[in-house]
Amino acid sequence: MSQTVTGVIARAEDAPVETVPIVIPDPGPRDVVVRIQACGVCHTDLTYREGGINDEFPFLLGHEAAGVVETVGDAVTHVAPGDYVVLNWRAVCGSCRACKRGRPHLCFDTFNASKPMTLEDGTELTPALGIGAFADKTLVHELQCTKVDSAIDPAVAGLLGCGVMAGLGAAVNTGGVSRGDSVAVIGCGGVGDAAIMGARLAGATTIIAVDTDQTKLDWARDFGATHTVRAGQTDVVEAVRELTDGFGADVVIDAVGVPETYEQAFYARDLAGTVVLVGVPTPEMRLEMPLIDFFSHGGALKSSWYGDCLPERDFPMYVDLHLQGRLPLDAFVTERIGIDGVEAAFDTMKGGGVLRSVVVL
Ligand SMILES: NC(=O)c1ccc[n+]([C@@H]2O[C@H](COP(=O)([O-])OP(=O)(O)OC[C@H]3O[C@@H](n4cnc5c(N)ncnc54)[C@H](O)[C@@H]3O)[C@@H](O)[C@H]2O)c1
Ligand SMILES: [Zn+2]
Ligand SMILES: [Zn+2]
Repeated sequence: MSQTVTGVIARAEDAPVETVPIVIPDPGPRDVVVRIQACGVCHTDLTYREGGINDEFPFLLGHEAAGVVETVGDAVTHVAPGDYVVLNWRAVCGSCRACKRGRPHLCFDTFNASKPMTLEDGTELTPALGIGAFADKTLVHELQCTKVDSAIDPAVAGLLGCGVMAGLGAAVNTGGVSRGDSVAVIGCGGVGDAAIMGARLAGATTIIAVDTDQTKLDWARDFGATHTVRAGQTDVVEAVRELTDGFGADVVIDAVGVPETYEQAFYARDLAGTVVLVGVPTPEMRLEMPLIDFFSHGGALKSSWYGDCLPERDFPMYVDLHLQGRLPLDAFVTERIGIDGVEAAFDTMKGGGVLRSVVVL
């Protein structure tokens, strides 16, 4: 039986979001209906609304969510009704070229629900990142549900479903930060602070936070930054070099993703260091740098999609670390809002006053 619930949609480019009735179909094979308890507001939701991802309007927004499995379709074995889960946008297929080569974090054929959710008039919705969780309930593939310890607050757990995982993974997985490393993180929003937290967890001894905003730098200290550099007022490359005995950092993470910060990341790293790009550039951005500098610096230049995570491996582990008091995931939740507060949360995000606004249902 299909059911009608409430969801937040973006109907057209740059139009304010609307809270409307949406229809969840009866789950098909391997589909699962999840009752959403909380969903964070990510920058990517705003990018969808602005038409920056694609033009498959209307979108059902929201993708950083935790909730409880309500009903399951045929052939579901991975989860059962009542399971507490964090939703993910990397349900790996196991059979594409990347999966077969043992690189499932690069899977390019990830699973989503078999049927569309719709408006009441039958118009198909495109769920953000295949999730669509600013809604009382959503329909996903069973492998998009990762079971975690239910002792964690859903508003906190849901954030692992996107931005916090992207930052943690940029440091731990993509950057391979290890004990004694020096790390610089440029851009200390939700993603950058999660990278700082990941660097601390991995044992980095020097963690340099770089941001244009002093409040963000103050918050970065709470996540583990040992030093802060105010971009715009200080030469970022010089400052990072000074703090690393003149060498540059072992790993520099660009969590902004514009040419200026990427160039800083490149020159602020040690000769054999690693640059990780986790901030997302826009298609028109260009980089102009001497090619000889790429040749004369060794090390590695890497990009990090979703922190190179594997949800089944990573989400339960980070939840456990949080519950043991070793990972302050709760500090990312700046405010809790209702389902009607998404449009206002986009404004707050643009103003820079939050790490995450979280819709609590
Ligand atoms: N790779 C992925 O899988 C993935 C996943 C989620 C988000 N992201 C991307 O990560 C980026 C950061 O996301 P967020 O949620 O942390 O955003 P945010 O807007 O909360 O944070 C960005 C931070 O960068 C700072 N900043 C801006 N320009 C700067 C500059 N020139 N120098 C230094 N600091 C500067 C801002 O003050 C802010 O603190 C975005 O581009 C987002 O799209 C990537
Ligand atoms: Zn695959
Ligand atoms: Zn996101």
